[in-house]
Amino acid sequence: MVLPVVAYGHPVLKHVAEDIEENSPEIQQLIADMFETMYYTEGVGLAAPQINKSIRLFVMDSDPFKDKYPEGAGVKKVFINPEIIELSGEPWTFREGCLSLPDMGEDVERPSKVLINYLDENFVEHEEEFDGIVARVIQHEYDHLEGKCYVDRISSMRKMLLKNKLRNISEGNVDVDYKMIFPNKKHRR
Ligand code: NI
Repeated sequence: MVLPVVAYGHPVLKHVAEDIEENSPEIQQLIADMFETMYYTEGVGLAAPQINKSIRLFVMDSDPFKDKYPEGAGVKKVFINPEIIELSGEPWTFREGCLSLPDMGEDVERPSKVLINYLDENFVEHEEEFDGIVARVIQHEYDHLEGKCYVDRISSMRKMLLKNKLRNISEGNVDVDYKMIFPNKKHRR
């Protein structure tokens, strides 16, 4: 089932998400729905807060980047209760987008490598290092679990310039072809 995506400005995107205690049919269904939603919306990552669940879970598939970033090929993964252990490598800038912020993108600088501990979809624990575009997507999605969006990582000057755009997104005045929950939608008479 394709789920509605929460738009920027919604309180759930500001919360630090809670650990998932145990595997369940509900969690497995949620993972399936999140992948379905991510592919439907043509995203490369989706975090549970974006579908209005404040739990530590995100899904990703960096395959669409493979032509420019070969390390992204075939990397389709589920991260449950992830904890970033270390960020390292040369910081680099990439124009990020987000399903919660439709119709915009901004240059964001992040370290190139991430060492992360997480449970996969079978609740098996891993500690793994990722590089390049994969590390980029992981850091972006992980931010959602920490109550952050990528616009929290751009300069305050730049963010100020985007103020109207961000308000329009939260009010639903945005061109988007998937279902969204707008926190500040005005009801017109
Ligand atoms: Ni995002």
